[in-house]
Amino acid sequence: MATTHLALAPLLLLLLLLDAVFLSTEVTAQPAAPAPGPAGPINVTAILEKGGQFVTFTRLLNTTQIGNQINIQVNSSSEGMTVFAPTDNAFQNLKPGTLNKLSPDDQVKLILYHVSPKFYTLDDLLSVSNPVRTQASGRDAGAIYGLNFTGQGNQVNVSTGVIETRVSNALSKERPLAVYVVDMVLLPEEMFGERKISPVAPGPKSKSPGVSDDSEDESSKKAAAPSEKSGSGEMKAGLGFGLGLVLLCLKFIV
Ligand SMILES: *[C@@H]1O[C@H](CO)[C@@H](O)[C@H](O)[C@H]1NC(C)=O
Ligand SMILES: *[C@@H]1O[C@H](CO)[C@@H](O)[C@H](O)[C@H]1NC(C)=O
Ligand SMILES: *[C@@H]1O[C@H](CO)[C@@H](O)[C@H](O)[C@H]1NC(C)=O
Ligand SMILES: *[C@@H]1O[C@H](CO)[C@@H](O)[C@H](O)[C@H]1NC(C)=O
Ligand SMILES: *[C@@H]1O[C@H](CO)[C@@H](O)[C@H](O)[C@H]1NC(C)=O
Repeated sequence: MATTHLALAPLLLLLLLLDAVFLSTEVTAQPAAPAPGPAGPINVTAILEKGGQFVTFTRLLNTTQIGNQINIQVNSSSEGMTVFAPTDNAFQNLKPGTLNKLSPDDQVKLILYHVSPKFYTLDDLLSVSNPVRTQASGRDAGAIYGLNFTGQGNQVNVSTGVIETRVSNALSKERPLAVYVVDMVLLPEEMFGERKISPVAPGPKSKSPGVSDDSEDESSKKAAAPSEKSGSGEMKAGLGFGLGLVLLCLKFIV
């Protein structure tokens, strides 16, 4: 009897030890578990740099301060954000001068149009209700600046009314920030469409379908803006970016 007990003792000890080992790994595993989530502050520029082919977009995010705004908003809002990042090729394929022809304010709007104030997985985009609002939504009274998504199988396309292209692989797909690659610059209908933006002033000027002469349009937009009410809800939602944009405009003026 006593001998069998003695023989069992080392076994018991071993079991206890093993148990202790497992317990301790469990204990040490606990604090390590949340790490894969928010490992430091999110930096959209760093994500794009890893992608390697987004030099132009990164530069625009930087000069407009929109990159910083994204980093801040992603950290502070519960909705998360989604960024559609055009490749350098996409910018090269624009008609020469497209960007430079835009007023500083429109350049900002163009970049804001590539950012949605909500986190979407590809699956979400397959079933989202169109149009999806962007950070440019509500910046002009009456202008939607929305993106439309359509899917087939697991392929998602984004359409602006001016261009349509595929939403390809994700540089980031963890909540709160999704970054998807697009191989075309998303040109908003409100800026590049046949009948640019004129829900506010539908005056007798529908004869010139030209794109280049912005100045007249620009001033009529501004004059009409304060009296237009329908976009006010969206305007509120856009306020988060307001301060940054004010700073930005100052920067452009200086
Ligand atoms: C984000 O990453 C870029 C590129 O790696 C770096 O230059 C910048 O300082 C970073 N910003 C922050 C706030 O960490
Ligand atoms: C970002 O812009 C600042 C000036 O606003 C400039 O000093 C800096 O070099 C830029 N960084 C990148 C990565 O373009
Ligand atoms: C993120 O938000 C938390 C609190 O909401 C704040 O303490 C922290 O400083 C923020 N981090 C950055 C990088 O903004
Ligand atoms: C986007 O979808 C909405 C709703 O289906 C539709 O009314 C609108 O015309 C579409 N816009 C474009 C540019 O396809
Ligand atoms: C998506 O866009 C691509 C490129 O513009 C086009 O070839 C394709 O037919 C579109 N797919 C769908 C489902 O509309």
